[in-house]
Amino acid sequence: MQIDGQVAIVTGGASGLGEGTAKELADAGARVAVWDIQEDKGMAVANAVGGVFCKCDVTSEDSVIAALGETREALGKARILVNCAGTGVAVKTTSRGVAHPLDQFERIIKINLIGTFNCLRLASTDMVDLEPLEHGERGVIINTASVAAFDGQVGQAAYSASKGGIVGMTLPVARDLADKGVRVCTIAPGIFETPLLGTLPDDVRASLAASVPFPKKLGIPSEFAQLARQIAENVMLNGETIRLDGAIRMAPR
Ligand SMILES: NC(=O)c1ccc[n+]([C@@H]2O[C@H](COP(=O)([O-])OP(=O)(O)OC[C@H]3O[C@@H](n4cnc5c(N)ncnc54)[C@H](O)[C@@H]3O)[C@@H](O)[C@H]2O)c1
Repeated sequence: MQIDGQVAIVTGGASGLGEGTAKELADAGARVAVWDIQEDKGMAVANAVGGVFCKCDVTSEDSVIAALGETREALGKARILVNCAGTGVAVKTTSRGVAHPLDQFERIIKINLIGTFNCLRLASTDMVDLEPLEHGERGVIINTASVAAFDGQVGQAAYSASKGGIVGMTLPVARDLADKGVRVCTIAPGIFETPLLGTLPDDVRASLAASVPFPKKLGIPSEFAQLARQIAENVMLNGETIRLDGAIRMAPR
């Protein structure tokens, strides 16, 4: 679809890949709603892109319904949803006689997987009575998985399971929404420079960058955002997960 003039929601839009995507979509002419639990940063991004901020916890039905209502009121109904909200944890399945705490596993599944589904089920339900565009297209949903969905490392059981779930639901959700004219794709990023990567020391960053076959560097949010924009623009992209990773295949640790 042509992004210019459309309303776009970016979850996790206060930081990192979501922030980059909010900027890219605004540059392409979208009116952007930044959804996040981080109020100050989210507001700053929304102001920078001339959009609105909605405080939203993607894991909560009430919170997402409220954010959809605020977005509709301020900007109109969204045709674009980019799910970037997410987080990680590093815990082994069992270590020194202690099992992986179940609540930590559940927390990651809840934010990354259930949060993504929660937003897409409610946002797509909002999209179905929009006027169809060219080819009958009504909307597009872009999810964020990770290469950890395919080659998760030691300590990534919860994170990989959450991201594998996003990859797994991409095709069935695209099929569910096909007769409504709503497309669904997922981006599986490699290693990107964002606050999620933490304040890793320079030598660790350098060694991560060196592990990428080509280009030997960490990704930056604008490169993720460029792909999100292309998915929104290219009507033939649907039901697919695209790795964006410089050909990296993560080692066990
Ligand atoms: N940075 C990477 O290398 C990388 C690689 C692969 C996948 N990813 C994925 O990309 C997405 C974005 O990550 P990032 O690197 O930009 O991280 P980030 O920490 O910079 O941004 C994530 C944002 O999500 C928000 N968030 C967390 N829980 C939320 C909730 N319950 N409701 C609403 N917002 C919530 C945070 O407040 C934050 O602003 C995540 O899903 C992450 O798993 C990142």
